[in-house]
Amino acid sequence: MDKILVEGGRSLKGDVKISGAKNAALPILISSLLTDGVCTYRNVPDLKDIQSVKQLLSHLGAKIETSGDVVQIDAAGLFNHEAPYDLVRKMRASILVLCPLVARLKRARVSLPGGCAIGARPINLHLKGLASLGASIELNHGYVEASADFLKGSEFYFDMPTVTGTENLLMAAVLAKGVTVLRNAAREPEIVALVEVLNQMGANIKGAGTSIITIEGVPSLKPVSVSIIPDRIEAGTFMVAAALTRSDIRLLNCEPDHMKGMIHKLRQTGSDIQIEGKNIRIKGADEIRSIDLKTLPYPGFPTDMQAQFMVLMSVATGLSMISETVFENRFIHVCELRRLGADITVSGNTAIVKGVKALSGAPVMATDLRASASLILAGLVARGSTEVNRVYHLDRGYEAIEEKFGKLGAAIKRIR
Ligand code: UD1
Repeated sequence: MDKILVEGGRSLKGDVKISGAKNAALPILISSLLTDGVCTYRNVPDLKDIQSVKQLLSHLGAKIETSGDVVQIDAAGLFNHEAPYDLVRKMRASILVLCPLVARLKRARVSLPGGCAIGARPINLHLKGLASLGASIELNHGYVEASADFLKGSEFYFDMPTVTGTENLLMAAVLAKGVTVLRNAAREPEIVALVEVLNQMGANIKGAGTSIITIEGVPSLKPVSVSIIPDRIEAGTFMVAAALTRSDIRLLNCEPDHMKGMIHKLRQTGSDIQIEGKNIRIKGADEIRSIDLKTLPYPGFPTDMQAQFMVLMSVATGLSMISETVFENRFIHVCELRRLGADITVSGNTAIVKGVKALSGAPVMATDLRASASLILAGLVARGSTEVNRVYHLDRGYEAIEEKFGKLGAAIKRIR
């Protein structure tokens, strides 16, 4: 498996273009299942997870063509209602085909995703929500089997806001008979992006971006041609890199409105951040101030940026308290950061980080995507070289990460 080698201590300079958002692209590509014509998607990032979703969609009968960052999907020939274990296991977001399949083919058989490194991650709310729209659901041999002659609008309350749960139910309700109201829905920008696409396809959805979303079902949807929004987590990761290495860089093609929580927190650490339309300029401070943070559903601070901020706090001037409230086991990176010299104590869902003068490079590995990104960041600021193993996780969610950091002046290379 590939590794990434980082030689720490270089400062970064220049511009970096932010790619399309993985977490927006996945549900949006899957929404192509809801219509039978050619949908065109631009600004699609070239990632392992995108390859996995394309593999899954073609397994279901969709025709897919890719040219650069443009992906065309035609699900007219959708015939297969089964998402097998081997495809779902690679990428949990595969569960998003459940509702579109029931809406289009009246049935679906989708492997249960199972737990993952960061927590149990149940899908009970996806299933309860689909059942409330009239589907019958059984769990057999590790598969969810759902069927419905037709779906019927209903009111559904999410016990907690779930991003993919909200997206899945949106894709059931758009073709249901009558009105569906989703309460305590997730409010992430990726949900708003999906709703904009669905509305362009002819759906009638109101309230996206708030916790109450109302969907009036329509008989059918038409194909679309749309662009994927920028990846706020990739952008945030580069911003933390600049803050860590006390550098001056510019992020091109981002959506600062989606990143207010992160920008606010980074300013508190001392970074100077200027918003220039769709670009962000960030200058890291000489002295990184410690701050506390707590992850929360959007618009709170994103759990997908927790590991990266922990690296920043590892070399800050005082004590920082980081609470993870979204996932129950999202401190996998702590042991690896300690191996690099970080001083971190964990108690329950809280990590206390005591800033140290410097980290020192070492071989490390992580078992989840954002934790792996945090190790690259640590490598950029550590003394000596850091070897990040299991790059597979990084490639799931960061497009050409070593090339982008390389262009900014980092000493980083991939070893195949
Ligand atoms: C999505 C993102 C992921 C991000 C996460 C939280 C995608 C493809 N992935 O994941 O990058 O870290 O949101 O922002 O968009 N839960 C239940 N029952 C359910 C569903 C969720 O209890 O049926 C719980 C989860 O275990 C977790 C919390 O709800 O504790 C939030 O998870 P959720 O928003 O569903 O995360 P994902 O959609 O899987």
